[in-house]
Amino acid sequence: MSDPIQTAVTLLRAGELVAFPTETVYGLGADALNPAAVARIFAAKGRPTDHPLIVHLPAGASLDEWARDIPDAARKLAQAFWPGPLTLILKRHPKVPDAVTGGQDTVGLRVPKHPLALQLLAAFGGGIAAPSANRYGRISPTTAQHVREELGSRVPLILDGGPCQVGIESTILDLSRGRPVLLRPGGIDPQALAGVLGELPEIAHPHKSEADSTPRVSGSHAAHYAPRTPLELVPGESLAAAVAACAAKGSRPAVLARRGPIEIAGEFIWLEAPTDPAGYAHDLYANLRSLDYAECDVILVEAPPAADPWLAVSDRLLRAAAGSGEDDEP
Ligand code: TXA
Ligand code: MG
Repeated sequence: MSDPIQTAVTLLRAGELVAFPTETVYGLGADALNPAAVARIFAAKGRPTDHPLIVHLPAGASLDEWARDIPDAARKLAQAFWPGPLTLILKRHPKVPDAVTGGQDTVGLRVPKHPLALQLLAAFGGGIAAPSANRYGRISPTTAQHVREELGSRVPLILDGGPCQVGIESTILDLSRGRPVLLRPGGIDPQALAGVLGELPEIAHPHKSEADSTPRVSGSHAAHYAPRTPLELVPGESLAAAVAACAAKGSRPAVLARRGPIEIAGEFIWLEAPTDPAGYAHDLYANLRSLDYAECDVILVEAPPAADPWLAVSDRLLRAAAGSGEDDEP
């Protein structure tokens, strides 16, 4: 039997795509130095080409090959959190193709923490550009099966590394502007970053600044991670009333709540989510996917607590709600 890692390396060297597991979500990878290969990523996802990609590196030691004017903070963060779910935005090295950065003078870099991803990167011996392996705007895949459902024959090889441990995407921290700015909350929370930076990063607010933001900056798309079924966030105390209101108008809701089903008349589907933020994040995309498949009229998600540890989950749910209910196939 041929070694899947070797097959993957051969494909990447030939300019083909390979989907692979990371600790956050599955990525759709291509040789970051091959613009034609990178163009295939955008075609497979249906993603606008000015939307930059993260370059995955085999180790923090390769930072200088991909970025320039690297601040001390970046080296400290890389030391503390790589391999791990943290992406650093830095001034790009001149060798990084425009195809990867959307023409910007910055590049997103991270070393993922999944044994298969690390084996692949070590065997490839270079940078792998990879967005999440889903169709543009849709729910990110956290299993190999999800990648098959999203991209099917558009990707010649999917490395199966089981379910992703973190379940939502990496934290993105911009260190290219002088002060640290959190562009996307994720697997590493702001307090943990502050422990190394000595200050909390400024938090960019994608939901408030859409009008003046460019599509290039991460998080500027308020609609993302979205199921096809309309999704609404409902405060916990209003869940029973919301389910009852659906029943009254003859619509069938699917509910995602941090508790078991409420005793209430009417037809509905109820999924109980973990009550801790890490467990909730781990299951989130698989839960949204299964509720989407249930073909209900609406997905009602119990709003997460307005507390710091829920920042990343809240971000994903707000964007899922903003982009839900649309079909991307004409
Ligand atoms: O956990 C993750 O980060 C996963 C896994 C596969 O590593 N990747 C991922 O990639 O979520 P993607 O492309 O789905 O999301 C990356 C985000 C995008 O919103 C993109 O705009 C932003 O990173 N990004 C990439 N390069 C950037 C740059 N130079 N400046 C600002 N934002 C950047
Ligand atoms: Mg994505």
